[in-house]
Amino acid sequence: PWRMFDELRRNEPVHWNPETDGGGGFWSLTRHADIVAADRDSETFTSTRFVNLEEVDERQAKIRRSMLETDGPRHLALRRLLHREFTPRAVAGYATFLRGLTARTLDAALAKGTFDFVKEVAADFPINVLARMLDVPDEDTLRLIDWGNRIIANTDPEYADVLLHSEESELYRDLPFRSPASLEVFEYGRELAARRRGGNGTDLISRLVNQVPRDGEPLSDRDFDNYFLLLVVAGNETTRHAITHSMRALIDHPAEAARLREDLDLMPTAVEEFLRWASPVYHFRRTATRDVEMRGKQIREGDKVVLWFASGNRDDEVFTDPDRFDVTRTPNDHITFGKGSPHFCLGNALARLEMRIMFEELLPRLADIRPAGEIRRVRSNFVNGVKEMPVTVTLA
Ligand code: HEM
Repeated sequence: PWRMFDELRRNEPVHWNPETDGGGGFWSLTRHADIVAADRDSETFTSTRFVNLEEVDERQAKIRRSMLETDGPRHLALRRLLHREFTPRAVAGYATFLRGLTARTLDAALAKGTFDFVKEVAADFPINVLARMLDVPDEDTLRLIDWGNRIIANTDPEYADVLLHSEESELYRDLPFRSPASLEVFEYGRELAARRRGGNGTDLISRLVNQVPRDGEPLSDRDFDNYFLLLVVAGNETTRHAITHSMRALIDHPAEAARLREDLDLMPTAVEEFLRWASPVYHFRRTATRDVEMRGKQIREGDKVVLWFASGNRDDEVFTDPDRFDVTRTPNDHITFGKGSPHFCLGNALARLEMRIMFEELLPRLADIRPAGEIRRVRSNFVNGVKEMPVTVTLA
């Protein structure tokens, strides 16, 4: 999509797309400054009327009412229930666990010589981390992984339980993501919640069920379901693709990879460049709550407005030489996690830490890594995903 984004940014940064797959038209914002302005202004650009283009179904919008699809005081109250568990300081507490998990994952994969990087390295890693934060027994981790995989990428026939817009999907129209797995996730989450209510555990579930949201409105079962499901899906596919794209960027830019391997202290700036380059979430969508003008275009109340984060990350008004992958890029004002928004990614510090540790462990183990076949991509306009990336490695 990069060429298309370039053209839009240059020629018509606020662009009306007349029709979507199964939905009405929408506005595309492709410039960094416009995306940030809209992301900041949740009063004008609300998240309460659903947040992506693939699912425009009003029924789905009603069922899925997590913090991601809520604004105002309720959103803040929900977010505050767990925001302390996701601060850089709090997630640093998982560093030792993460390093151990990373080392085990890598040693098993690299010993194979030739393997699919997505399946062997990137896929299960993020949800294993989440399983730890939820404090679920090891045998349940496999179930979580399975559910996570069945719910993701629900426009890609190979991935999802039920393909959106398929006839079968009508049978599941009352299920979140139209995925039967989502019901299993709810059931499982509620069981955990019941066992941990009233206890003094420090895992995410215990924290969630043993607090009253600040707005005084208790967490209903439905609220809990949505919260739990959001945790299962939000960091899973995104981080998977972030890690895979980062690996691919290093393969495609051997000089940058060598620079980083020689000086692992560059990792913090490299991770920011990985994130900018990867842009695992192409867009989030908002809905205008009033008539508003942007760059001379008249956006009407009720219009859908799409924030193309991936495009903003290549905007030459913000990034020098934006199509260059540079592990030392500073400043790097990418908007991969959103920017200035009340919805700014809650898991950003965790995702950053996972990526840092992954490549700190990976690079010293490798003498060489090269492609061993075609990359296969996820079919989606929401996640920028890779489902298969065969590689051959030579160990250091
Ligand atoms: C929200 C991206 C990893 C949890 C978001 C948003 C984006 C995003 C773009 C919306 C921002 C906005 O509307 O301005 C990513 C990417 C990730 C990642 C690219 C990996 C590289 C994670 C992880 C977790 C997580 C690991 C935690 C388990 C959340 C939650 C929200 C969110 C809970 C909703 C926040 C709210 O509505 O207030 N993420 N995310 N994310 N993310 Fe992430």
